[in-house]
Amino acid sequence: MNIVIGITGASGALYAIRLAEELSEQCRITLIASETAKQIITEETEIEYADLEELAHESFPNNDMNASICSGSRDFDAMVIVPCSMTTLAKISSGIADNVITRAASVALKEKRKLIIVPRETPLNSIHLENMLKLSREGVIVLPAMPGFYGGPETAIDMVDFIVGRIMDQLGLDNDISPRWGEGNQ
Ligand SMILES: Cc1cc2nc3c(=O)[nH]c(=O)nc-3n(C[C@H](O)[C@H](O)[C@H](O)COP(=O)(O)O)c2cc1C
Repeated sequence: MNIVIGITGASGALYAIRLAEELSEQCRITLIASETAKQIITEETEIEYADLEELAHESFPNNDMNASICSGSRDFDAMVIVPCSMTTLAKISSGIADNVITRAASVALKEKRKLIIVPRETPLNSIHLENMLKLSREGVIVLPAMPGFYGGPETAIDMVDFIVGRIMDQLGLDNDISPRWGEGNQ
């Protein structure tokens, strides 16, 4: 599968890193990060964005509007925006395509390709909720960074992997990186 991963400036850079690690074993990854995302990766993790790029087949600067994925003629199977800031969410729901991440999301919508967004903000205001509802009605999978606790997570990575497993489920990729309900907990 050809998967586009867009990383935006919300807390939760680890979600993107773990997803890229898992997908790199079986998918072709195109990677883009906003400038704030790069800052947050440095603040929240011990990984540099350059290290993350090593897991990808290709990456583009977020301001490179000549990037191939800015065109509907360049095919990809799915796009995941993880974590997704409320700013990027608002832009996509309004049809604004002013950088590679928002343009590729717009392409995914117009070409009826799978788009998964992993919003991270709390609490949510009515504008955030309306933006998510609008995108959900457009067919976007809104998969909030809300880990479950029924698997008995012991580390932050266990909680991150709960969300990464759900993203991979939505991509149709077999995985057992996080316990499922009924596996030893019933
Ligand atoms: C350290 C830090 C953490 C942030 N966390 C969040 C967050 O969790 N959710 C969110 O919507 N915005 C968050 N923001 C604000 C966004 O980064 C800001 O709205 C930015 O314009 C998003 O742009 P982007 O979507 O192009 O990355 C955070 C900013 C910083 C500097």
